[in-house]
This record gives sequence, C-alpha cells and structure tokens, in this order.
Amino acid sequence: MTKYIKIAGLLLMQVFVTGRLFAQHRTQVTRASLLEHKVDSVLQLMTLDEKVGQMNQYNGPWAATGPLTNDDKLLDQVKSGKVGSMLNVTGVKRTRELQQLAMQSRLKIPLLFGQDVIHGYRTIFPIPLGEAASWDMNAIEKSARVAAIESSASGVHWTFAPMVDIARDPRWGRVMEGAGEDTYLGSAIATARVKGFQGKGLGNTDAVMACAKHFAAYGAAVGGRDYNSVDMSMRQLYETYLPPFKAAADAGAATFMNSFNDLNGVPATGNKLLQRDILKGQWNFKGFVVSDWGSVGEMIPHGFAKDNYEAAMLAANAGSDMDMESRSYINNLARLVKEGKVKMAVIDDAVRRILRKKFEMGLFDDPYKFSNEEREKQQWNNTANYEVAKDMARKSMVLLKNQNVLPLAKETHAPRIIGLIGPFAKAKSDHLGFWSYDWPDDSSRIVSVYDGIQQKTGANTRLFYAKGCNINDTVRSGFNEAVTVAAQSDIVIITVGEARDMSGEAKSRSNIHLPGVQEELVKAVVATGKPVIVLISAGRPLIFNWTADNATAVIYTWWLGTAAGEAIADVLFGDYNPSGKLPMSFPLSEGQLPVYYNHYNTGRPAKNDDDRFYRSAYTDLSLYPKFPFGYGLSYGKFDYSDITLSNKNPKGNTTVTATVTVTNNGNYDGEETVQLYIRDMVGSVVRPVKELKGFQKVFIKAGESKTITFTINTELLKFYNDQLQFNWEPGDFEIMIGTSSADVKSVMLSWSK
Ligand code: BGC
Repeated sequence: MTKYIKIAGLLLMQVFVTGRLFAQHRTQVTRASLLEHKVDSVLQLMTLDEKVGQMNQYNGPWAATGPLTNDDKLLDQVKSGKVGSMLNVTGVKRTRELQQLAMQSRLKIPLLFGQDVIHGYRTIFPIPLGEAASWDMNAIEKSARVAAIESSASGVHWTFAPMVDIARDPRWGRVMEGAGEDTYLGSAIATARVKGFQGKGLGNTDAVMACAKHFAAYGAAVGGRDYNSVDMSMRQLYETYLPPFKAAADAGAATFMNSFNDLNGVPATGNKLLQRDILKGQWNFKGFVVSDWGSVGEMIPHGFAKDNYEAAMLAANAGSDMDMESRSYINNLARLVKEGKVKMAVIDDAVRRILRKKFEMGLFDDPYKFSNEEREKQQWNNTANYEVAKDMARKSMVLLKNQNVLPLAKETHAPRIIGLIGPFAKAKSDHLGFWSYDWPDDSSRIVSVYDGIQQKTGANTRLFYAKGCNINDTVRSGFNEAVTVAAQSDIVIITVGEARDMSGEAKSRSNIHLPGVQEELVKAVVATGKPVIVLISAGRPLIFNWTADNATAVIYTWWLGTAAGEAIADVLFGDYNPSGKLPMSFPLSEGQLPVYYNHYNTGRPAKNDDDRFYRSAYTDLSLYPKFPFGYGLSYGKFDYSDITLSNKNPKGNTTVTATVTVTNNGNYDGEETVQLYIRDMVGSVVRPVKELKGFQKVFIKAGESKTITFTINTELLKFYNDQLQFNWEPGDFEIMIGTSSADVKSVMLSWSK
C-alpha cells in the first residue's frame, strides 16, 4: 500500500513539476513574444531616417577615446532622432541632459549610454590581465559586479567589456585588457565577467549590458602592432580565438563589438562570415553588434571600401548593427536602401536588435532609470566596493621569486629601517592603469605603497624613501640618494614598472624591457648588498632578466587600481599569502615572441637548450620563457604526488578521474591553483604539446594535504579537424597535473572508441 502511495505521490509531483516547468516556459515565451511585439510596434512607426538614427552612435562632447570628429550639430541630431547611442557620456547630470534631448525627438526613443568600464568605474580594480592572474572566477565576477553597480549608478547602460581577445604577444599594448594567452582560462573569465556585468539580468538598475570584444582575432595582430592585420587558418580561429567569444555569447552577453583588424583580408567590420554566419547564425546571437571606433570608415584605408558609402553598405550587410563614430551609416544608409544596395530587412533586423535591448533595459518605461543622483552619491565613496577591489588586488599579484625574505615581519624587536625606493613608491594614479578614470577627488581614495607599508609597520620600523628616477627617463641624478637610502636600510623595496599610459590601446612597444633607467636603478641598489624586494607595476609582461636573476624577491603587481598600496602591503607583510599565477608567458627577450606554452611540437623539437643541432630553436636564445604560463609562488610550498587514474584504458564516451595529492610543506597556509593539462599524442591534425583543460584553486593549511580530482571526459579531448568538425579521436593522451605549465606530473592513458 505504502508503495502505491509513494508512486501516486511521485506521479503527482511529476505532474506538478512538469506543470510548473510548462508554466515557466509559457511565461518565458509570452514574455519573449510580448517583447517582440513591443519592438515591432515601435519599428512600424519609424521612418527610414529614424531607423538609421538608431544605428548611429556618437561620442559625447566631453571626453574621447579615439580620433574625434568635431560636430557642432551633435545635440540637434539627438533631438531629431538621428542618434541611437552615445559613448563617453557619464554621470547622472550629463546622461540626464542628453536623454532629455532624445525625449524631444518624434518617437522619444531613449539613448543608450556606453562606456569603457574595463576595470572598474569609480573604484578602480586591477587591470583584467592582473585579475586573470587570480584564476578566481568568483572574485572576477564580483569585480565586474561592482563595476556594474558603480557605473550604472552614474547613468551608464552598457560597458564595452569584457575584452576576450586571446593574446600571445606582449608587444601588443592591449594585452592588459584581456585574460592572456589561454583559451580555456580566457573562456572561463569571459563567462565570469559577463555574469558580473549583467548581474541578475538586464532590466535591473544595477545591471549593465556587456559587450564581448573585439570580434574577432584582434589579439593576433601581426607583430603585436595595434590595428594590424591578422591572417590565420580557420582551424586556429575556431580552436584558439573564438571560444571565449562563444562563452560570452552563451553567458548572455547583450552585445558584441567587432574589431579594427582584417581577418584573412576581410576587415572584421565588413566580415559577413564572422558576424552573420558564425555569430548570428551558428551561435544564434540575438543581441547587436557595434563597430569599433570608426572601424566602418577605416575600411577605406584598409583598401576594402572605396568611400564611406561603400563602407556603410559592406558593414551593414555583413552584420555590423551600429556604427561607432564613423558617420558612415548616418550619411549613407538611407540612400543605400533607396538604391537597393542594402535591403530594408537588413536595417529592420539591426534596429530590432537595438530596440530589443532598450526594452530589456527598461528604458522605454523610464529613460532616466539609471540617472539617479541618490544612487550615484551612494556609490561614489562606497567603502565596501573598495574592500572588494582590495581583495581582488591581493589575489592578482604574482610572486615570481622569493629567497627567504618574504613575508616581512610587521614589527621587530630591534629597530629596523625599510628603504622604499622607486617611482611607484609614492605614486597614486600610476597604479590605476590605462582604462581608468582619474576623478578629481580620487587621490584621497588611492593609497600609495608608501602609505600602505607605513600603516602596517610598528614603532620600531622607520621608513626611508628615495624616488631614484622617473618611470621612463634617462636621468640618473636620483641614483645617489637611492643608494644612500639603501645602504642605511636593513631591507629595500624597489617599485618599478610602466606608466599608466604605456600599455593599452595604441601602446604597442617593440622594446618591452623595464622602461628608462629603472633596471639600472635596481642594479645600483642591489650592489649595496642589501636584500632587495622588487615590485613591478605594469600592464603587460615585461622583460627584466637581470632583476629576476639578482633581486632577492620579485612580485609582479600589474596595475592594481585604487587599493594597490594596501593590497601590496598585505602581501609584503603576510596578511595575504600570494596565490596568483601568470596568465601569459613572460619572454626572455623580444626576439622570442610570440612565446606561448601551448605550441606545436614541430618535426624537429629540441629536447633542451643543449639540443640545437638542426633543431627548431634559436641558436642564440633559450627555448624557454623567463616565467612560464601558470607560474606563481606562494609563501607556502606545494608538493604534488604522482597522478592516479581511475582507468588507463577507457573506452567510448566515458569519464576518467585523475587524482593528485597536494601537500603544503611550507610554514604558511595558502592557496594553490592546481592545473590540469592534456596532450593528444597523435591527431589527424597536430595537437599542442599541452593544453589547459581544468584548474582548481584550493586552500591548504601548512603541513596539510588535499586530494584533488579532475574528471576527464571526451568533451575535453575534442578539437577541430581540418574539416572544422569538432570531435575527439581515439589514441594515447598524456595527462598532466601541476603547479604551472612547466612543472607537472604526468601519466599516459589510452582512450579507444
Ligand atoms: C577601442 C574599443 C573601445 C572603443 C570606445 C576603441 O578605440 O578599440 O575597445 O571600446 O574605442 O572607446
């Protein structure tokens, strides 16, 4: 009897669950069709000129992030419905003013305000490449969340982030904006950042629309020179460069931005394969695509379009829905439609996509929804946000070297002098990084490294300071003072690096050594014989071989943002045990570039640096980067056991577990990022020497061990063959687990069909 009651109960439950799911589905369907209905009802009212207006985006009159066209008719155009969106308009006051103008247009379609909120808005977070070094998806999501909360409170609807370009060449200044060289890590970060920006979903007042950029392959610009061409196989595109974009689309990114580069001879902006076939076709993306700044017009110098008329035609037909700043659409699209060069259906599709987002954001209900003075004020000096930024900054630092000097004691019994030297020691805004705002009252919020250290140390510690030199200078006149300070000190901390505008857009550099005379300053200070801790603040992997070889300790701090000083002090004095791991390989010299861990083996691989006879190697340079992908130390010491596999001969679509025990044999509790790499030994196309396929961040107390298990399934073994089919092939696989891409345990398994 009880059995029947149970069955009846289960059936009822099923009916209930199915009913609820159905109801949920129905609500979603109704909501979706209601949205489409609303979009269509607006579209029907629009003239062709008004439609083209929605596809037009202008930079606001206050700040610019690209070559600006002066336009004194700009505001009139907003009033007459000729502008669908604006960028670089921030703050409740300005966004409200401009929205009021848009409300004077015939159809009162609200403007969308877009902004490069790349690593924080009011509270500046570490640059994305730095955050990537945390390998901490929750923290990264939180960082994007705070950026969304702060910027949305200032009238911003839409951030031009995340940048998800895979980048293997640190000469490219924009590596700072991305997640580094690896596709797997990059995809996970793309997801986390989209989720963070969009929060609980568009329509919430603290959610901003994300924009995955730059579609696509911009990170592969030849020679790391910005805006340069990209030529790559479709296989490489699908395998290495597209997955983070796909991840962003799957996470619900509202928009995409195309890119400046041409891909195999076709500028991304006029690239139908990328925008129509892959993004809107294969991936079924329902958001809209904005061009990059002026990139529609730039198809003329590319040699792809004769004039703006042709450029507008090519871009619109290829699927670029909105023209950022080139004015090609506003000046030509209506005529192109009338002359039959662009179909009305193309325009309608683009406008629908844009209107859909405006509806989803709730702007038709309340165009001033995001322009609320009270909220803006609340977020302006939000100390909770500062704490989130500090946490992110601590997690982003990478300890590259430590010869038993770190962490420093906060207090000593005997008097102690710490010498603090270098151009970043008292700097404030230089810690902010390229895509950040220097608000007028910012400096009170930014804590310098000097202040951070001073807050930490007790009465027996004195802090001596000398700048030594400027960041990018040839002047050595401050060296003497720096050497004197070092000679008087018990321990020296030197801060060196790049100025905040040395990495970023249009900041490609052929020489990525520490700028100016900074490494000479390090040499002069090291010559005093004192223990020297070097902090490097930069937007990209720099070259600093002498420093790495001769300093006592090195911490890579990237550009850490508003909380840099306190976060750095936390790491120096052991209040936080560093856990960052490099998301990019650090080269030995520029001649080694591009250098990345997941390369092919070639037909003549060198076994090591002594094996050069007719080998794929430089005769005058090591095979190995200075610091490999995935590398980073801790104050703990993590030792790995051998790998145990649940099955060495799996068959078909099954799973295998790979297990290691990691022991913290150091004296400090700490976090380790355990990394899983796989190599497919033989494929119908050659496979990389290893590929990251999983990672887990684990906290292990000193003296304790943790067992870490990865589940490997055939999904992880898949790759694109030369027909662009994504599948796995049976054969031998090397399974590697370790602390960096260059330090792993390994075991073989053989997987049959
Ligand atoms: C950059 C984009 C940015 C846009 C707007 C362009 O120059 O490439 O990444 O979002 O400007 O500032």
